[in-house]
Amino acid sequence: MTILLALNWKMNKTPTEARAWAEDLKDKYAPVDGVELAVMAPALDLPTLAANLPAGVGYGGQDVSAQESGAYTGETSAAMLKDVGCTYAVVGHSERRDYHGETDETVAAKARQAQAHGLTPIVCVGEKLDIREKGEHVAFTLRQLAGSLSGVDAEVVVAYEPVWAIGTGKTATADDAEELAAAIRDALRGQYGAKADGIRVLYGGSVKPDNIAEICAKPNVNGALVGGASLKVADVLGMQGAL
Ligand code: G3H
Repeated sequence: MTILLALNWKMNKTPTEARAWAEDLKDKYAPVDGVELAVMAPALDLPTLAANLPAGVGYGGQDVSAQESGAYTGETSAAMLKDVGCTYAVVGHSERRDYHGETDETVAAKARQAQAHGLTPIVCVGEKLDIREKGEHVAFTLRQLAGSLSGVDAEVVVAYEPVWAIGTGKTATADDAEELAAAIRDALRGQYGAKADGIRVLYGGSVKPDNIAEICAKPNVNGALVGGASLKVADVLGMQGAL
């Protein structure tokens, strides 16, 4: 399965900075067999990426509305993302769940809306530290997954991101990542049957050039959702080269 290196810029980079980043990548980028690169950018940066990314590098939104269109001030619809050439939309990132009160039901509605417009949702799940310390991380994450995939079809990517490893420099071990990725794969088999083997399960949380290879070598980990190390082209190429 092609490994997906999904770069989540979060709320970083003005359109001017995004353009400079894309031009820098275009100068230095060479495709690597079996590795797909895609940038999850702020909505305002997406047209800039459409015009300036090298061919073969995809892009997507960091969120998408659960609604089709209308009086939803501040939201970005799936049709808008599709219209600027996005192929992905991240849904249910822990920062959206924590700071914007998104529930599993909302996340599933967003994922369904993305799929209705031909976008592949990247559905994020993962536990906080207290849950891991109680040993409940597998059960918690699988419950969150089931709720977040309600009514969602198999054209989906799942990102396991233990919240305690996001932006903290604390990376789950490759074995921790595989434990959850394998549990997620089993749950996906329960929901989607044989199609589950074609669904990419990513790991996210302090991934960088020096740890990505070990994590992505695990049998059920099919890529990474990268925050901090996505901001510099040199780190992105370092991660791509390590795979
Ligand atoms: O979406 C990306 C994740 O939240 C990971 O962020 O690589 O900065 O830890 P990070």
